[in-house]
Amino acid sequence: MKDTLQIHETAFVTATYRASNEELSKDVYSKYWKNSKTDKWIKSYLEKVSNEEPYTHCLRNRYFYETIKRLKENKEIEVLVNLGCGFSMYPFIFENDLINIEIDKKDIINHKKTKVQKLMKSGKLPDRQIHYIAKDFNLEKKELSEEIKSIINGRPSFVILEGVLFFLSKAITNELFELISEIQTPGSYLGSVSFLESIVDTACFKRLVHFFDEEVNLNSKFEYLTLPTNYYKSIPSYELIEREDYVSLSKKYSPKDKIENGDLILNENMYLLKRK
Ligand SMILES: C[S@@+](CC[C@H](N)C(=O)[O-])C[C@H]1O[C@@H](n2cnc3c(N)ncnc32)[C@H](O)[C@@H]1O
Repeated sequence: MKDTLQIHETAFVTATYRASNEELSKDVYSKYWKNSKTDKWIKSYLEKVSNEEPYTHCLRNRYFYETIKRLKENKEIEVLVNLGCGFSMYPFIFENDLINIEIDKKDIINHKKTKVQKLMKSGKLPDRQIHYIAKDFNLEKKELSEEIKSIINGRPSFVILEGVLFFLSKAITNELFELISEIQTPGSYLGSVSFLESIVDTACFKRLVHFFDEEVNLNSKFEYLTLPTNYYKSIPSYELIEREDYVSLSKKYSPKDKIENGDLILNENMYLLKRK
């Protein structure tokens, strides 16, 4: 049988990308998730789809790092909720005054919890208390909302949806945004990443879809979600306050490697919204 990648294993891939340039990504801990299976997969992906992926993922992490840092310093947020957290290391990059809630599928959460425990014990990671929740967003979300709300307990929060929406259907995405609006208090923030619909016509995206069809273990209902910016503008309880893409982020954080043409890469859009 062909050795395909499971969707949750893409979390190893994005972590490895962030480790490619710690100075840029500001993530000095993602290297702990590196492994030979992921390295092999990445090599093939970079050759067949786009070799800018490690660089753009460093930019993505940097954007959220700077945004969370700024809001934390301004005392606008006290809780960080990471939906589809994978092996993101934000809890360790920031001081221990943030309350961290990390949610992902069971396999990711179990592996992350065990490994993080070991790394903290050996002094490779600073001590942090993290609320882990194992949940598949495709399943019932009622208890998830209650569980998150009880931890947030009325505090201002930052919810992050990074590298996840691509894997969800439109219906589940709509439900997820409803859940987020339920758990956040007014003045809280939401950071989200998605592709614009126009990307489907680019050669790069076509290569991505082909690669995923061949190499990733997808269920038959897989839809490759894209969202127009208007989707974010029309979420009733949120105001869209910032939008970036890899062209604008490269100018800001790495001007000497500026991306000139967003159509030649897998250009994602980063959105920052504020709960009304
Ligand atoms: C590409 S990784 C991104 C991980 C992390 N946010 C990052 O930026 O490095 C996608 C993550 O979404 C999670 N995910 C995908 N579908 C999910 C679902 N239905 N329920 C919960 N998590 C899901 C995967 O398990 C995986 O950890």
